[in-house]
Amino acid sequence: MSLTLTKRKTTPKRSSASKKSASKQARKQPARGMQNEKTKLYASLVVQLLSLLKGEHDLIANAANFSALLFNSLPNVNWAGFYFLHGEELVLGPFQGNPSCVRIPLGKGVCGVAAQQCETIIVPNVHEFPGHISCDVASNAEIVVPLFDGERLLGVLDLDSPLIGRFDDQDAEGLNELVTVFVAHEEGLGL
Ligand code: SME
Repeated sequence: MSLTLTKRKTTPKRSSASKKSASKQARKQPARGMQNEKTKLYASLVVQLLSLLKGEHDLIANAANFSALLFNSLPNVNWAGFYFLHGEELVLGPFQGNPSCVRIPLGKGVCGVAAQQCETIIVPNVHEFPGHISCDVASNAEIVVPLFDGERLLGVLDLDSPLIGRFDDQDAEGLNELVTVFVAHEEGLGL
């Protein structure tokens, strides 16, 4: 995990191949009440994650519990887990869901592109994303959030959903907050 990247983009990017779906999705933004429900859910997940991490500094155990928390708390998610950066490739870490591909080169698939570009990527429809790596036929939408220690890329958090357009900017914001909490806790472990 030696790659040092100097730029960090925080604004989530939608896959360009899915602009049509994305704009449709934007028009279908949930009502204010539902937005608030999502905000509350992510706020509650921050509290639960802090509680799970408290007093424990084993990276694998914490990443496993973090992925289980997301998998069991977020609706319509069929895969949630980590890929950690080893040299020039991402290697599968703790996750919940079906068995998945183990190694993803930087720049390949949604995970590799998010890692290489250092930005969160929301893919409303994975079938429209060039080079998408299919690990579960049930997956139709995906969000990938890079993990950073300062400017250093550590890996990515990846979530899949069977629902087209499942992930939006609120998910990106909530998941970015959660990974920030996670990385701050794991600091010093040589992630
Ligand atoms: N779809 C990902 C591969 C990992 S699985 O979704 C768990 C990608 O295109 O990088």
